[in-house]
Amino acid sequence: MEYTVMMPAAGSGQRMGAGYNKLFLKLEGKPILAHTLGVFEGDSACKGIILAVKPDERSVIESMLEQFAITKVTAMVDGGGERQNSVAACIRAYDGDGVVLVHDAARPFIRRAVINELVKVAAEHGAAIAGVRAKDTMKFASAGVVEETVDRDMLWIIQTPQAFRYALLQEASTRAEVEGFLGTDESMLVERLGYSVRIVESTYDNVKMTTQEDLVFGEILLKSSRI
Ligand code: CTP
Ligand code: MG
Repeated sequence: MEYTVMMPAAGSGQRMGAGYNKLFLKLEGKPILAHTLGVFEGDSACKGIILAVKPDERSVIESMLEQFAITKVTAMVDGGGERQNSVAACIRAYDGDGVVLVHDAARPFIRRAVINELVKVAAEHGAAIAGVRAKDTMKFASAGVVEETVDRDMLWIIQTPQAFRYALLQEASTRAEVEGFLGTDESMLVERLGYSVRIVESTYDNVKMTTQEDLVFGEILLKSSRI
């Protein structure tokens, strides 16, 4: 089933501490951004990718697309101050229908099987997000003191991709913008309108490259040929 990707890549990578956008950091000699784009480039169901970039990184990214033979980026839009603003810019630039997938450029290890399942579930039900079950015991705490142990069976750690019927995502994004609501993922924008969102079980290796130790893990994953 076909889909289009909205990919925010306009962050600054503060927590990585590289002093520049972490998406240019390399894993096995290839920039993180090129790894992530490559997953979708290689998926015949992906119709196109709308990429949100920082204006001053546009030309470097254009060269990267050429170097790594990425042909599916159909539009590059200017990102915004927050991740949600960058995704909103991608949404505004899309003029089709069907299912769209929002995926962080900083998650290069997403598996095609998970993508395809997300698209299928979103086409049928409207919204589907990737998640994994919490492995550790989870507790609520206030000021470092435990208040309650949470029922782990009900807890999911949420990732991207997040897949939506386009009309639903567009409505949720517009409403959030008009109402000044800032969420931490697109699902929150859809949830607040009362729509139900399904979780598709993903894999623990779909990590977001956020801090230095994630890079170590990323190199190990690539070497172990588990990806
Ligand atoms: N992103 C974006 N526009 C922003 C902020 C983030 O497009 N204003 C993108 C990032 O490039 C990344 C994804 O959203 O692909 C997830 O964000 P995150 O992992 O938080 O990346 P950064 O914001 O770059 O990192 P940090 O929060 O550590 O500064
Ligand atoms: Mg961030």
